Amino acid sequence: MKTAIITGAARGIGLATTDILLANGWQVAMVDRDAKALADALETRTNVHGIDCDVSDEGSVKGMIAETLRHFGQIDALVNNAGVADFCPIEETDFVRWKTVMETNLDGVFLCTQAAIPALKKTKGAIVNIASISGLRASTLRVAYGTSKAAVIQLTLQQAVELGEYGIRANTVCPGPVRTKLAMAVHTQDIIDAYHDAIPLNRYGSEAEIGEVIAFLISEKASFVTGQTIAADGGFEATGVGLPALRS
Ligand SMILES: NC(=O)c1ccc[n+]([C@@H]2O[C@H](COP(=O)([O-])OP(=O)(O)OC[C@H]3O[C@@H](n4cnc5c(N)ncnc54)[C@H](O)[C@@H]3O)[C@@H](O)[C@H]2O)c1
Repeated sequence: MKTAIITGAARGIGLATTDILLANGWQVAMVDRDAKALADALETRTNVHGIDCDVSDEGSVKGMIAETLRHFGQIDALVNNAGVADFCPIEETDFVRWKTVMETNLDGVFLCTQAAIPALKKTKGAIVNIASISGLRASTLRVAYGTSKAAVIQLTLQQAVELGEYGIRANTVCPGPVRTKLAMAVHTQDIIDAYHDAIPLNRYGSEAEIGEVIAFLISEKASFVTGQTIAADGGFEATGVGLPALRS
């Protein structure tokens, strides 16, 4: 059975991706720092192993990889999905807030991938990093979040280019808005309405619609795909001059 590590698997997009992979015959190391939510998610699932780990802590990450290998014996895919969001004007984003976002969203992806490389070399495994449309397009209030996600897109390119010779693939998925706890903490009703208006498909995505793209990218079906960024965003990235006045 193939083994995937999914970080931030206790809820939201990570949990939906876990369920899709389980349905596709994978076993999953579910990694999260929210021990209570993780315990709840583990209760109703089989072929999973829960690991309480903060992806921004180097020692914990090394332990998490070792624990995955002890339990499952191999790692075929790593999904770096754990993330935090923060909306704040540039002048009010103090250094602590900036670092809090970078530690999880960027450092976490670097640390988990680096620690998993020896195991991924053995399986010619795949990495999927979760960025965001905020890493593709700038916006107000996202100096830390948007910058962290743009850096994840570049980090993925570095991984794809350098690890390709070992048969390891690395791709980025950029979700558009999904109604998870992370998004709902920063999206007011006005923001929700504006997103519906700006997105060609006129709606938010679901967790599973993001998870299916991740599942494809780590599967054999994507065996010649590496270094790519795929936005699952209802067409948001495609809109350049998206003026409402130009639409019917
Ligand atoms: N929901 C959206 O609209 C949206 C849009 C674009 C990108 N994303 C990205 O998708 C990913 C998943 O987000 P979500 O919306 O499912 O959020 P969520 O808050 O529902 O889930 C995130 C999970 O990550 C865990 N987590 C956070 N920091 C962690 C850390 N340092 N170590 C271990 N676990 C940690 C949380 O405990 C939580 O269980 C994130 O990277 C997010 O930035 C989400």
